[in-house]
Amino acid sequence: MTDTTRTNSLLTHLECPKTSETFDADSLQNLSRVGAPLLARYDLDKCTLRREDLSGGPSSLWRYAQLLPIRSYDSVADLGEGWTPLLPVERLRARLNMPHLYVKDESVNPTGSFKARGMAVAVAKAYELGAKELAVGTAGNAGSALAAYAAALGLVAHVAMPDDTPRAFSAECQALGADLALVKGLITDANAHVQIGIRERGWFDMATLREPYRLEGKKTMGYELAEQLNGELPDVILYPTGGGTGLIGMWKAFDEMERIGWIGNKRPRMVSVQSAGCAPIVKAYEEGNDHAEMWQNAATSASGLRVPRAIGDFLILDAVRKSGGTAIAVTEDQIHAAWGEIASHTGLMVAPEGAATLAALHDLLASGDIGRNERVVLFNTGSGLKYIEAWYRES
Ligand SMILES: Cc1ncc(COP(=O)(O)O)c(C=O)c1O
Repeated sequence: MTDTTRTNSLLTHLECPKTSETFDADSLQNLSRVGAPLLARYDLDKCTLRREDLSGGPSSLWRYAQLLPIRSYDSVADLGEGWTPLLPVERLRARLNMPHLYVKDESVNPTGSFKARGMAVAVAKAYELGAKELAVGTAGNAGSALAAYAAALGLVAHVAMPDDTPRAFSAECQALGADLALVKGLITDANAHVQIGIRERGWFDMATLREPYRLEGKKTMGYELAEQLNGELPDVILYPTGGGTGLIGMWKAFDEMERIGWIGNKRPRMVSVQSAGCAPIVKAYEEGNDHAEMWQNAATSASGLRVPRAIGDFLILDAVRKSGGTAIAVTEDQIHAAWGEIASHTGLMVAPEGAATLAALHDLLASGDIGRNERVVLFNTGSGLKYIEAWYRES
């Protein structure tokens, strides 16, 4: 008899990208012995997922369950995460004279952002491996997503966020039943705050790239692009970068997709977009460094980009460089102008992080780094409805 609860996940082990040391994928893990994020590895030779056969699959990221780490559907709370639209944005195309421009609209995810992808997978895996209390320091959206999946599975979520995060995020976390702390400072301070519970009470650390499976949820954006573009990939992807999980995840997905025969060796140019008020990756990219220094006095209305130090900095920089892409900072005024421009020409009330990608596109068109005939995807990573204070520039 076939067991219908089995996902047939091909997960085999975890690997440190710095030393190649391997780790057990079926016990709770955080960083590698040298403090690097762990990457999930699969027995890709056994993959039976064919892109052409997926049309009847679930309308969520669970259509790729074989290439995700969960062993049993009993561990999954499917709130409809992933399989978001790739929109041809006709009026924005006409305005920019870019006939092959798209917006990947992540705002339709549960809790209104792409963070749902990572947390859907990471919370399911933590549940499967027996964790009971999960903790995260967040810029906002990751906290909401953790709170939602913890609520759906009956786990405890401990969320800490900067006290000046737009109020919609704290309201949402409270309503979802999370234990919420508002802390002075930035996401780095919020992460430091939950470390006490992690050390002393055994909470499991769910911070960006400090556990291996949020990355796996985020990588599904790469799989979706290949499916939605019928086996091709864009020429350029503009991604608003804080901790960089989505960019690193898509880059990983491209390698996996090549191994399973979905795509060839051509890759999109990956563009990491940051705010001039917090641009550690851009600075490291411009200075030719492999790691980024801590950014001092980080400030931006795009709160998801207010990440002064990213633990996966070397993975972001590696993907950007190998892809032939770039890293670019845009000003707060540019973000605000692009916010109204993208919304009023697409019908999408995007998050300011998403608006930043349009601001960057303007600059890269002007410099000639992007051609108007290229196939370009802007990532709108979340809903602007949570950032009302930022729209009115009240904070
Ligand atoms: C809406 C939004 N966009 C982008 C980001 C940055 O994402 P990442 O940490 O994957 O770089 C965040 C992170 O909080 C976010 O909430």
